[in-house]
Amino acid sequence: MKKIIKNICCIGAGYVGGPSMAVIAHKCKDIKITVVDINEEKIKAWNGDDLNNLPVFEPGLKEIIRECRGVNLFFSNELKKTISESDMIFISVNTPTKNKGIGAGKASDLKYIELSAREISKYAEGHTIVVEKSTIPVKTAQTIKEILSSQKEKELNNKNKSFSVLSNPEFLAEGTAINDLLNPDRILIGGEDSLAIDLLSKIYENWVPEKKIITTNLWSSELSKLVANAFLAQRISSINSISAICESTGADVAEVSKAIGMDSRIGKNFLKVGPGFGGSCFKKDILNLIYLCEKFNLVEVAKYWEQILSINSWQQKRISKIIVEKLFGTISEKTITVLGFSFKANTNDTRESPAIDICLDLIEEGANLNIYDPKVEKQEIERIFNKKLKNKIEIKKINISGSVKEACLNSDAILIMTEWEDFREIEWDKIYPLMRDPSWIFDTRRILNIESIDHNKFNIWSIGR
Ligand code: NAD
Ligand code: UGA
Repeated sequence: MKKIIKNICCIGAGYVGGPSMAVIAHKCKDIKITVVDINEEKIKAWNGDDLNNLPVFEPGLKEIIRECRGVNLFFSNELKKTISESDMIFISVNTPTKNKGIGAGKASDLKYIELSAREISKYAEGHTIVVEKSTIPVKTAQTIKEILSSQKEKELNNKNKSFSVLSNPEFLAEGTAINDLLNPDRILIGGEDSLAIDLLSKIYENWVPEKKIITTNLWSSELSKLVANAFLAQRISSINSISAICESTGADVAEVSKAIGMDSRIGKNFLKVGPGFGGSCFKKDILNLIYLCEKFNLVEVAKYWEQILSINSWQQKRISKIIVEKLFGTISEKTITVLGFSFKANTNDTRESPAIDICLDLIEEGANLNIYDPKVEKQEIERIFNKKLKNKIEIKKINISGSVKEACLNSDAILIMTEWEDFREIEWDKIYPLMRDPSWIFDTRRILNIESIDHNKFNIWSIGR
């Protein structure tokens, strides 16, 4: 096996592949990194001149792309050539929930992982270290190993080849991806081949302290990723369930979060109340964990984790219901301004955004919506609703605005869905004349200082108090 890694390939130029490889390129100038994808448009955008229009918006990303792209970081559609030249290949493809067949609605669809493994098996040359970066069910490394050692694929181009498979899950969160990658809490490497582990570890040691790099067996590493996401989501569902008790009792969820979070055993992070967690992974990874439990006949364990998801949907429904109730029991033909559409601030990602289901509920109730998000493109919002709504009349009820002011024109209520910084700075006195009376604000993120807003002008509902 080679003693040094010179060429890295990453399959998948998405939210993980793009930023994580950019940071390796930034920290390891002597390694050439090529990120490949089957999506030609995406690669074109990664290579585009306009750094404000990269496929992924992350604070700090464009600066690294400017520095490294074309120097030691490349984006390409040429899978065959890149794979054949690489010493190490990261698999960062998407692993969505299966939508049909056995395990539909719960199990991960591993078709993209399998396809990547087949491409690697076909085109790799010499010894190649294959690194699972995607989030996958436990034992996927076994599947990858079996595909890689398939004789037929080897005979296809008759090259002498061998592989080591490692698990190296990614823990970055969107919106803080670059900072998370530069200062990770830990790097987790699972595997059996100590030389391969050492070579991957050496790459991270360029910027991560050695004590933060931990190694485990393959299955612990694969499972830890699912468990980390399940625990994080569990905290959110816990505090969201408490928000409803606060509203009924006069307690304030922000005060409760602060009070319990100061207990060092509980900790203060991930106790922010909200409209339910979104993002591409929490739901998918918990479903994956549930499927795994059911597969091993751990029915009670599966039920325990299911509850985290059901509280999450309940929180979203609860908010839609409160809006209808506060607006005299009907929102038919009323206009509601939706501020924020991404699943959290500082990202343009809308996957599983709670805004989607809440907007669908409001449309179902007959409301007109004016949606504004500072980073999500108009076409992306249109694409989502064109897919979700079959009725053309309902689609016409959605208007995508170019600014907060435009979105608030003739509106009955403002619904804050994403905690964008811009929304904290809204001058409410200037918004009031644009709206119809009575004017409502629904703050699902607790970002407003309600004491500073004129209660003679606005009715305010702020979650968890
Ligand atoms: P993504 O959809 O943004 O990107 C995946 C990319 O892989 C797509 O561009 C797709 O075209 C490409 N792809 C699929 N099959 C391919 C193939 N055979 N060859 C070449 N390219 C192929 O997904 P993502 O958000 O980057 O997530 C990737 C994985 O990382 C998932 O398993 C996810 O659970 C995990 N993860 C995501 C995050 C996150 O914040 N998004 C964080 C940690 C882990
Ligand atoms: C999450 C994890 O934080 C990452 O460690 C993990 O790598 C990633 O999933 C993944 O596997 O994809 P991400 O989904 O990008 O990252 O963002 P989070 O900051 O975790 O937020 C997820 C959702 O929970 C958002 O909708 C957010 O608004 C919500 N949230 C988060 C709360 O409602 N309250 C909180 O206190 C924290």
